[in-house]
Formats: sequence, structure tokens, C-alpha cells
Amino acid sequence: MCGIIGYLGFRPVGKILHSGLKALEYRGYDSAGVAVIEGGAAVRIVKDTGKVDEINSSLKFDSLEGHAGIAHTRWATHGGVTQPNAHPHVSCGGAVAVVHNGIIENYKELREDLRSKGHAFASQTDSEVIPHLIEEGLKAGLPFDKAVLGACARLKGSFAFLALSSANPSELMAARNESPLIVGVGDNEFFVASDCIPFLDYTKKAVFLNDGEAVWLKAEGGFEMKFFDFKSGRQIMKEISEIKWSASQAQKGEFEHFMLKEIMEEPFVFKQSAFQDELVLKDFAKGVLDAKDAFVVASGTSFHASLVGRAWFKKLAAKDLKVVLASEFALDSESLSKDSLVIAVSQSGETADVLDCIRAAKAAGARIFSIVNVVGSTVDRLSEKTLYLNCGPEVGVAATKSFLNQLGVFCLLAFAAKGEKVDFAELGVFIEQGLEWNREKLKELAKEFKFRDNVYFLGRGASYPIALEGALKLKEISYIHAEGMPAGELKHGTLALIEKGTPVVLLNPPDSSFTHALNNGIEAKARGAKIIGVGVENNENYDLWLQLPKIENPLFYPIIETIPLQLLAYYSAVERGRDPDKPRNLAKSVTVR
Ligand code: M6R
Repeated sequence: MCGIIGYLGFRPVGKILHSGLKALEYRGYDSAGVAVIEGGAAVRIVKDTGKVDEINSSLKFDSLEGHAGIAHTRWATHGGVTQPNAHPHVSCGGAVAVVHNGIIENYKELREDLRSKGHAFASQTDSEVIPHLIEEGLKAGLPFDKAVLGACARLKGSFAFLALSSANPSELMAARNESPLIVGVGDNEFFVASDCIPFLDYTKKAVFLNDGEAVWLKAEGGFEMKFFDFKSGRQIMKEISEIKWSASQAQKGEFEHFMLKEIMEEPFVFKQSAFQDELVLKDFAKGVLDAKDAFVVASGTSFHASLVGRAWFKKLAAKDLKVVLASEFALDSESLSKDSLVIAVSQSGETADVLDCIRAAKAAGARIFSIVNVVGSTVDRLSEKTLYLNCGPEVGVAATKSFLNQLGVFCLLAFAAKGEKVDFAELGVFIEQGLEWNREKLKELAKEFKFRDNVYFLGRGASYPIALEGALKLKEISYIHAEGMPAGELKHGTLALIEKGTPVVLLNPPDSSFTHALNNGIEAKARGAKIIGVGVENNENYDLWLQLPKIENPLFYPIIETIPLQLLAYYSAVERGRDPDKPRNLAKSVTVR
């Protein structure tokens, strides 16, 4: 779960790699580094621990010269956060440099084997075996491309890596297995990166690598690219696709943080969740209804959206969806058969746990559908049918607008399963009101949360997943411990933790859950809790009221309730001096198990 980028072309490589690292930083920010071919023939490495800006202030990525280079921003897996463990890693002589995203599962055996052949290692990472394996191939007289393909054949696990060799200064090699990698094809220049955001300013033409594929890029004597199946070593043909996202969508603009920008975009981008191909939507809904068992697999925020989806499907189409956490799906996968349908829900389309579910489902002969944001992502490509979130690139590590659009897509689907259409025009206005009405109150509340250690989020029915989501958002970016739970469960144990002043956020929409949920809030208040009521009308039991707009169809309340909770998490993180876009220990797409 790191970000990698490579460049081969006519622009100053240091600047391109530096801006690429900034664009990919959401994938990992423990350390970063760059390798360039300098003076036409030597590999120069600069790397350190810290965030890209911190490292750049001393190591000056921009000043690196040359026209070929690779770079990496790290989220540590094997080996601590130290300068030697930062990428790029090099071969013994330093002639081959590699950046890697993923985990090499057989790295210990490979290290032993390479050590016995005289190789010395400078880091504790699994990744470092790759440049040494390539070096072995070169020593055996193989050309650079064949040496890289040979190294790929020996690796087990997940990898996307880029390799440079000082003996081949105008070439760049890249390979992928279970970690994303996209080639950006410009005029007389190539980019290779973990996602398309770093090169959108320069080209919209891209080739998506599949598992088991490698690419060889060459700049000298004309630009050339060749694709290979690295298992057979055979050359293959690949199609160039056009990317629809624009570079400005992935920039902060006037906002201090991506997270705030992405929340403020919601009134507008939510409506885009309805931009679906009618036929795909109908077929998707029919596939769900026809399936003997319909599983939904997802992680984190996407899992919470799927729980709301389940409630809607039950209510509108009387269909039970089996929503399972992707990381726990192995426990359910025994019940998979060729009559099952697995719906993978993922913003990134690259979450390793979700991909494992898809592979298990394929092995059982089940159908795979998906709901994703990133077009061309692995989940998208492994699915028979995909519905897209259409919320544009989401850069902040905390999922916000993608959650809302996941709700939007589930809502459309559940209505389609009932044979009805749904109109989101008015909801956009309600989302806007949800943002505006509570902002000042939320800023004040965040000042109070600054000194709190525990917060509880309660909800019933379809508001329960929103309580889970409110708690996850607060935890991940403000580092305040939070728990989301079904309101009725409080009295079965957790009530013991409530003391004077403990904040309890009570989701209290005017639907069939209203009175019971309110009573659960009152039980907590009687033990000293401060009740933050989220509802359409104020209530004497609320210590603070977060106002929701009144909407005709109560089914939509989960969408509207989400808004103040996202803002609360954001302002609490800012109040506590945390960076909401880059929470500690986390990264945007989790490509490890
Ligand atoms: O890309 P995905 O939707 O598959 O990601 C799943 C989770 O990793 C993600 O939702 C995570 O929980 C977010 N950081 C939450 O804000």
C-alpha cells in the first residue's frame, strides 16, 4: 500500500516525480524517495523518512536532473520506518534501482538464495530482493527486459514495481501482480503509476496492466512500448483507454484540505451517482433479484454503505442481501456456489480483502458484480457488471463523497429492483442544507471534542450503519476513540461506560425508529451523557441539536444524517491539530491483507 511513479520523456524528471509523489501521497506517507538516471548513465538515489514536503525541503527532488526516473511514497509493511527501508532499493553495485508496492511473500527464501550468491542487503524490506534478482539476470548476460521478466517469474505475492538500470539509461520496466499499475501514454513521454492522478495534467491516454503483465518502455531512437505476459515471457497486445477524470478534480483548490473539499462537493457530486447506464442498472437489479444467494463484500466505509443498501433492498424489494466484511468473507465463502452472486463494493477497486473475495467467488463459479469509483480498477475489470459512483477522484484518506455516492447507487438499485425510478434532484438541496445549517455548531462542538477521550454514536435500523460510519470517521482522523452501535444495545453493556459529560451522538430521524431511539438517548442522559441529537426537530432531551431538513421519504434519512457526522470528524481533527487528509498509520487504498 504505497504509491509509485515512473517517468521517461523530455521533461525535467525531478519536477515530474516530485509532483507525482505529492499526488500519490494519500497512498502512504511514512517515507519517500526517488531514483533518476543522472548524467545519462548513473543511478542517483535520494530518500528519507517523513512526508514528501518534509523530505523535499532538505533533499530537493525538483533539482534532480535527467529524463528517466522512478519514485515511491511508502506505507511500511516489512521493516520499520527508517531511511534504509525507504525506497528506491538498489542492487549490490547500485546499477539497478527498484520501487515496489505490495508484499513479496517468498522474500526470505529469495534473500537466502541471493545471499548464498554473494548479494548483500541494506534494508529489512521484502522489496529489496527485486533489484538483486534483476542484477543476477544481468550478470547472466540477459538484456534488461529479460532480466526483469526473469525476476518477476521468481516472485510470489503482490507487486507493482518499476525498475531502472544505469546500463540502459533510456529504458524503464514495470510489472504488476495484484497491485495496481497504469501506463500513461503521452507524446514522446511515458508515465507509469499506481493510479492516473499524477499524469492527468499531461495525458488522458492510459493502458491498464493486468496481473501477470509487464511493460518495457524505451525513449531512445523513438518512443516505444511493449507489453509482456511475464509467466510465458510472450509479448502481448494491449488497448489504450481514455481517462475521463480531469486534473483539477484532484486538486485542493481554495480548500485547506481535500477532505473538506470532498465534503463540500457532495450536494453536486451526489446527483452524479444517478448517471447510470439504464440497461446495466436494470440488469444489475435483475441479477440481484434472481440470485439464490446475493453476497455483498466490502471493507470500512464501503461496508457501512452496503449495510444501508441491505436495509433498502429489504424494504423496497423484499430481497435479503448477505453483507459480509471482505476480510471475514473466507468464513462464508464455503456457501458460495455457481448460483451465488457476489457484489464487491469499493471506492478504490483495489482493496486486497475485496479482491480475495472476488477470486474465491470466481473459483466457485459465482457471478461477480461491483460498485466502484475508479474506472478500470482491478475490481471493475474482474466484474461482469459494474455501476460507477461517479464522484470523481477522492484523495482524502477518509472516504466521504464516495460513501454518499455508494448510498446513491444502492438507493437507485433498490428502487430499480422494485421496478421504480428515483429522483435525486431535491436530495442535492437537502445535502446542501445539512452542510450549511450545522457548520457553526459543529465547529464549537469540535472544540469540546478536543478534550474528549470517548464518543458514542447511536442509531437504529438504517441509521445504525450511519452511527458506525460516524464513529469510524471520527476515530480515523481525529484519533478520538469512538463507538458506533445500535441504540437499543447500549443498555446491554456499553451503558456502563457512560459518565458525566460523555458525548452521545443520537441519530434520531422521524421514522419508525424515532421513539425507541430517543428513549435509548434518554437512558444515556440519565447516566450523565451529553446528548447530541441529530433530527428534524429539537427535543427537550437533546443537549445540542444538529438539524436535519425534513424530507418526504424517510428512507433517505441515512443520506442526510451522514453530512453533519463527516463535518464533525473533520473539525475535530483540525481542532486537535491532526492532518485529516493523512491520518497516522493509514493509507487510502489498502492493498495488503
Ligand atoms: O477503496 P475501498 O472502498 O475498498 O476502501 C475500503 C476501506 O479501506 C475504506 O473505506 C476505509 O475504511 C476509509 N479510510 C474510511 O474512511
